Amino acid sequence: MFLLVALFLGVYLASAVGPVKPVRDSSFVAAVYEHKVILNPEPHVPLSRRDALRHMQKNLDIYEEQAARAAREGAQILVFPEDGLQGFNYTRSSISGYLETIPDPQRESWNPCMEPGRNGNTEVLQRLSCMARRYNLYLVANMADLQPCPLKTDPSSSCPSDGRWQFNTNVVFSSDGLLVARYHKHNLYFEKAFDKPPQSEIITFETPFAGRFGLIICFDILFHDPTGILLEKGVRQLIYPTAWMNQLPLLDTIQFQRAFSLGANVTLLAANIRNDRLIMTGSGIHSPFSATYHHASKGDPEEGRLLVARVPVLDPRWAGQSEDAEEGGGQSERTSSVPADSGYCRRDSRVDRPPAPSVPPSNPAFTSSMMHDPFRFVLLKETEGELKVCDGTFCCHLRYRRLPRGNTKELYALGAFAGTHTVNGRYALQVCAVVRCAALESSSCGQEVEEAESKMDFLLKGTFETRYVYPSVLASGLVLEQPESVATAADGGVTMKHSNVAGGLVTACLYGRMHHLDSE
Ligand SMILES: *[C@@H]1O[C@H](CO)[C@@H](O)[C@H](O)[C@H]1NC(C)=O
Ligand SMILES: *[C@@H]1O[C@H](CO)[C@@H](O)[C@H](O)[C@H]1NC(C)=O
Repeated sequence: MFLLVALFLGVYLASAVGPVKPVRDSSFVAAVYEHKVILNPEPHVPLSRRDALRHMQKNLDIYEEQAARAAREGAQILVFPEDGLQGFNYTRSSISGYLETIPDPQRESWNPCMEPGRNGNTEVLQRLSCMARRYNLYLVANMADLQPCPLKTDPSSSCPSDGRWQFNTNVVFSSDGLLVARYHKHNLYFEKAFDKPPQSEIITFETPFAGRFGLIICFDILFHDPTGILLEKGVRQLIYPTAWMNQLPLLDTIQFQRAFSLGANVTLLAANIRNDRLIMTGSGIHSPFSATYHHASKGDPEEGRLLVARVPVLDPRWAGQSEDAEEGGGQSERTSSVPADSGYCRRDSRVDRPPAPSVPPSNPAFTSSMMHDPFRFVLLKETEGELKVCDGTFCCHLRYRRLPRGNTKELYALGAFAGTHTVNGRYALQVCAVVRCAALESSSCGQEVEEAESKMDFLLKGTFETRYVYPSVLASGLVLEQPESVATAADGGVTMKHSNVAGGLVTACLYGRMHHLDSE
């Protein structure tokens, strides 16, 4: 369907970004808590179970207060961040007091609050389960799981030499306290205490108020396993505990959360840690239609933050709703779910035609490092114009108009990168980005900036060899803007258009993840 429409009409199809309204009016209330985790000051020193519990109870006391608040505000599901109970920087042995053996809910139905005696050494699971029950909400927390493994019987397995798996784990409790899901983080990020699970885990759970949710953790969001697989399975609501260190200009927390939600057309419930020394802040409830988010600024008191928002149900198979069954069998295949007569085409024809590919690279291109990747850049020298820059065969096009009264001294550049990012993780990318350079020299393009005064209307386009393209517009002072439209064409062309910006432009980005090239 999508292909035919695109060919016949020769227009670009708009994605759900922009003025598109959810098809249904069913909705639910979600909450995420950005938690200022109380840390263990000496994470390398092993401590007794008793002391580890005493430490975690302090964080659990805060969870308890927030669960009560979230419930008062009507939340049906509450998400806490990654590492929120124990903190970071443990070794395999120093974390041992914090570990509990979490039974597999696919094999054993267990309500820790109601049957605390069934599994020993599970004080944290019991307390979380009772919290979910007491406040009558679904509760998602992240904790450390210990699973014995068959060292002797299967020496060829990837069982660690101490005979135990240790996993960074999400647990989910239903509103009556039942343990309904357990997910082990697949893509670890410098976590000596934890193992990568031997098999990939694609974990979802059902709720009575919004259907199906999928589980991921922090760095997972960038990878095919599990995130791309969940999306391919049509999971449209993802739960995302994280402990993400901000990295401008392309991967600030809220910027990427928003971009992911828009690009994948999903709802993302993102709960981050708050820790200023580690540059961790930025949480949000992101649906493709709206974002409720928090990002602390320099000088703000270092404290937690509860966010509560009503968002539409996106699960296409959800049975718990009204007559509107039309979309019932539809999966999230973004290329097949757009009816020809849906009005997308009219909307599309209003999207400006993308800049002609023939625009010569007018300004000389230069290479500058952005987040450790060698981007090819060209400067935006005029008040308006069209530009093109290529990294190899991957090209980015920009049409722009700087608005008067901005700071015309600020330097901007259009950048392109196609290749594999190799610092602190390895992943293949195709990225188009307009950035404000940190200073007036071109060598400063790609460095971190938070503020900008220049407002700009623009149309940014790239032709990507992946469907995983995440669009974002970040304005001065870490404010997110919803792009006016994002259109995806049959040839992989993605066009993001934006005008009437509220703030100075810091970054406009189309961030393409080339999952299929990661192993090369
Ligand atoms: C972990 O410890 C190192 C020093 O041992 C420190 O530089 C780093 O900030 C710590 N990271 C976290 C997440 O606490
Ligand atoms: C995104 O999701 C919405 C609501 O579920 C749907 O109407 C729309 O067609 C989707 N957009 C794309 C591009 O798939």
